[in-house]
Amino acid sequence: MKQKILDLRDQALASIKQVKSVEHLKELEVSLLGKKGQLTAMLKGLKELSEADRRVVGKMANDLKQELAQTLVEKEQGLKRKASQSLGQEFYDTSLPGRTEPYGHLHPITQFIREIEDTFLSLNFEVAEGPQIEDDYHNFTALNIPKDHPARDMQDTLWCKDIPYLLRTHTSCVQVRYMESHDAPIRVVVPGRVFRKDDVDATHSPMFHQFEGIMVDTTTNLSHLKGILTIALRRLVNNPQLELRFRSGFFPFVEPGLEVDVTCVGCEGKGCNICKKTGWLELLGCGMVHPYVLKTVGLDPEKYQGFAFGAGIERLLMIKHKINDIRLFYENDPRFLEQF
Ligand code: PHE
Repeated sequence: MKQKILDLRDQALASIKQVKSVEHLKELEVSLLGKKGQLTAMLKGLKELSEADRRVVGKMANDLKQELAQTLVEKEQGLKRKASQSLGQEFYDTSLPGRTEPYGHLHPITQFIREIEDTFLSLNFEVAEGPQIEDDYHNFTALNIPKDHPARDMQDTLWCKDIPYLLRTHTSCVQVRYMESHDAPIRVVVPGRVFRKDDVDATHSPMFHQFEGIMVDTTTNLSHLKGILTIALRRLVNNPQLELRFRSGFFPFVEPGLEVDVTCVGCEGKGCNICKKTGWLELLGCGMVHPYVLKTVGLDPEKYQGFAFGAGIERLLMIKHKINDIRLFYENDPRFLEQF
């Protein structure tokens, strides 16, 4: 039995030495150490030996098993090393692109906010940001919406528990903050997140984005508002033919107040299902800043006048790209996001 083990060792080491490929090495491994391998068969034969012999021979066989396993591993590494070295002599095309991880990119809303900022910067506006958790004064009172005013119902508010703060319902509060700390003339645009107690459906979400703008100077008037909005919106939706329609509308912080509709993207004004056959889509609110608001922030309404507007960013993006469900912006499905 001892001799058999020594013979097997010589024979196995010689065969391992000769092997030229990893596949053959694996076959050899199976034939030596596999379930039906030669060494395994030998270990099974130990049963027939006497107790004393079994101990000595058993140790020999186990030592051999370890030696062979180790030799096989080293041989495999050697074979692989050789294979990678010989690659250098083979032809391979260095101009082929490598395998890369796909790049991500900014979210479409973030991209659009940057476009909005660029557009208004080019029109000599500044960009301002403000807190998303606001106080009652900046979100409502300073904007001519006193505590008992029914206009508070226009924007269902999310109030903080136990403290007198709320999640801002619009970014108009940042305009108030900006006017408190800056003298006229003022030209500022405010993009940001806003919150309302809305149920989620295809066109509503309790969190969405707005951009609001304000311009105040001694002679600022409605035609400036029309001009700036027309230039900015045409650029933002990338449609130089976009028409704007101004209708009167009510917001406590502007007088007169206006609502703006734009040409329907579905039918270019001819009338279709998207615009309920009117040819127009409602887009934003605007107007001339109410004298009360100017006075509240410390600007003399006898000297200064200005316009303000506020629009939903998702709404504008939906119009621009004919997107029919606002929820797509928040689900982070790569199939949607990759299109931007
Ligand atoms: N703040 C208004 C809103 O969120 C929009 C608006 C801004 C309307 C400025 C008129 C003037 O609905």
